[in-house]
Amino acid sequence: MPPDLRGPLSERVWALLHGDPAPQPGAVAVEDPLSDDDLHLALFLSYEIHYRALETVDDRAEWSPALIAFREELELPFEVALREAFMRTPTCEPIDVQLRALIAEAGGVSLSSYLARFGTRAMYREFLMHRSIYHLKEADPHSFGIPRLRGQAKVAMLEIQHDEYGGGDPAWMHSALFARTMEGLGLEPAEGRYADQLPGITLATMNLMSLFALHRRLRGALVGHLAAFEMTSCIPNRRYGDGLRRLGYDGDVTRYFDEHVEADAAHGAIAANDLAGSLLESEPALDVDVLLGASCLIGLEARAAAYLIDRWDRGESSLVTDGATRSLAEG
Ligand SMILES: [Fe+2]
Ligand SMILES: [Fe+2]
Repeated sequence: MPPDLRGPLSERVWALLHGDPAPQPGAVAVEDPLSDDDLHLALFLSYEIHYRALETVDDRAEWSPALIAFREELELPFEVALREAFMRTPTCEPIDVQLRALIAEAGGVSLSSYLARFGTRAMYREFLMHRSIYHLKEADPHSFGIPRLRGQAKVAMLEIQHDEYGGGDPAWMHSALFARTMEGLGLEPAEGRYADQLPGITLATMNLMSLFALHRRLRGALVGHLAAFEMTSCIPNRRYGDGLRRLGYDGDVTRYFDEHVEADAAHGAIAANDLAGSLLESEPALDVDVLLGASCLIGLEARAAAYLIDRWDRGESSLVTDGATRSLAEG
């Protein structure tokens, strides 16, 4: 089923995916490249084919020169805005110290505290829909980094990814655990199922990973993103699980979150020291990008969290339907 497209950019990507040389809608100019709905649905659709088959789309579209060329035009304002908003100047300290400082100074609202205390079933359902664009393919974007790393950094990334993929048991793949959480709240755990209901501010968090994953020149940012992701995971996941327990859920529904409380304590240390630290030993000039990747993750997640909480506080749904908002109760 074609997604609900949002404007000329997503319409053009959809046409290019189907081999239709649609006319260029003009220069890509959007007000906020970090959250524009049309830009980020367009980018999301153009990236998705690198991960999975898209219904009605020929697999060969993945390397369509016209699609790749247009995707580059979409990526440019996004990457420029990311660097403008989140670039940090590295210090002489070890990267794990710098990453910890970056995380410590991050402010903003806490989505996990909010859901733990006030989360309703409707809010949790929306939260899972937002998160499904990544968690149902959890770890896949960072796996694009594996052939781009060497030595200890490669081994460290594989150690983390091995756990993410269930440590040898498909039932324990984090994506499979998340699917069971979704089922427990009556949602369909199909990749991309809810993408066209998500605002650009959420799609941007996934597009960020794909941008870093699909460009070898951005391998430092991909590593920084993974490091910050793992280093900031334990406490929020404990809270997400606690909120679900408060609503009466347990077992299969909370397992995804419970699993991350323990696993990511180890992953955070491996990612900061063995992965990011080793990468910078061999390629010290990548320090700017490692910090950029971490800072972008923290910054975009904070913007998305603020958006969700603002909507929910007003009793509104955080989803987008036909360009109109709807009340949370309908969720
Ligand atoms: Fe995970
Ligand atoms: Fe992890």
